[in-house]
Amino acid sequence: MAGAGVVRIAIVGMGIGKANGLALAANPRGRVVALCDLVEERMVELARQLPGEQALYMDYKLMCRDRSIDAIFVGTPNQLHVPVAVEAVRCDKHVLVTKPLADSERAAARLVKAAESAGVVNMMSLSTRFSPACRYLQARAESGYFGELYYGRARSVRRNGIPAWNLGFIREGGGAFRDMGVHVLDAAWSIMGRPRPATVTGVSGAPFGPRGLGYSRATPPKTYRQFAADDYAGGLIRFESGAGLQVESFWASHQPPEVQVELFGTDAGARLSPLTIYRTEDGVEEDTSVNLPDRGGSGSWDHIAAHFIDCILDGVECTAPLRHGLQVQQMMEALLKSASTGREVRLHTSAEEWK
Ligand SMILES: NC(=O)c1ccc[n+]([C@@H]2O[C@H](COP(=O)([O-])OP(=O)(O)OC[C@H]3O[C@@H](n4cnc5c(N)ncnc54)[C@H](O)[C@@H]3O)[C@@H](O)[C@H]2O)c1
Repeated sequence: MAGAGVVRIAIVGMGIGKANGLALAANPRGRVVALCDLVEERMVELARQLPGEQALYMDYKLMCRDRSIDAIFVGTPNQLHVPVAVEAVRCDKHVLVTKPLADSERAAARLVKAAESAGVVNMMSLSTRFSPACRYLQARAESGYFGELYYGRARSVRRNGIPAWNLGFIREGGGAFRDMGVHVLDAAWSIMGRPRPATVTGVSGAPFGPRGLGYSRATPPKTYRQFAADDYAGGLIRFESGAGLQVESFWASHQPPEVQVELFGTDAGARLSPLTIYRTEDGVEEDTSVNLPDRGGSGSWDHIAAHFIDCILDGVECTAPLRHGLQVQQMMEALLKSASTGREVRLHTSAEEWK
């Protein structure tokens, strides 16, 4: 596998597959050699923007049997991440999977088990965790700069942003929390050192979607009548360490749009947007704006592509394995369960499985 110092990659799903595929192809050690989608024109359109030649597939199972492919990016709707990725790892392909890992905890666990027992590189494609600003905060947290991070707030708010271009978003298994909440939850939890959750309490609802309101583009009644997910969710995760994380996501709201992570540490605090560090030195409050160098292009996708390729070719340890996607899924599903039952949910995770 992955001979001659390059990784031969296939892209499944031409939506978010485009950003990932272009970044993988732009890496000197990445080649995009195949595309797979149900819509041929979408593949032809992406193929035009990629270097080299790509085989076009409409059947992912057939594609997974192609021996000239080393690794597969999975960018299908949520409900299809697990079937596609399980087929890929069974065929000994490395996998890079978009968020959320799955549409349920059970499906996510099935995939992690299959990927880990296949022994392939398995990684989440997480554009928020891998953004330059989150990587900066992660490095600061790992260096101990914040002291103990004992509380976090993470939110993702849209004014009119319900997606309905594929029904998977608004049907069961979709929803605002699995679509957007996942990003800020993952980023904050990761910067806080991936603490083990103890209890989760949450609320969720759909005050916009079923009424045909709050969509990012005009949506006919025959589509919005199928709305069966949350268009907002929020709650509190209490960790075994005693730390807490408040997380919220709104596809639609009467509030200004915002993506924010706020971190409360014993020695310093931070905000993601605009990127700012807060601390007190000799009784003086210091607020520092952080201006990261603009390296051009989309930092997240390039970094995800480079890390995935380094893991495959150089044996670098993956910093975002699918196991992290499962752990985030467990917290998300617990929050949604708490919302539907009106009760706090206790997570029974062992320290061993939460590594
Ligand atoms: N920032 C991010 O990381 C980010 C951003 C957007 C979307 N996403 C994720 O990407 C996934 C897809 O969302 P999208 O916005 O790209 O949707 P999309 O509808 O634009 O694209 C999905 C594509 O998958 C194809 N597809 C569906 N079933 C298939 C099958 N059986 N085999 C092959 N192809 C199939 C569809 O034809 C479509 O072209 C979702 O899980 C979403 O959460 C991630």
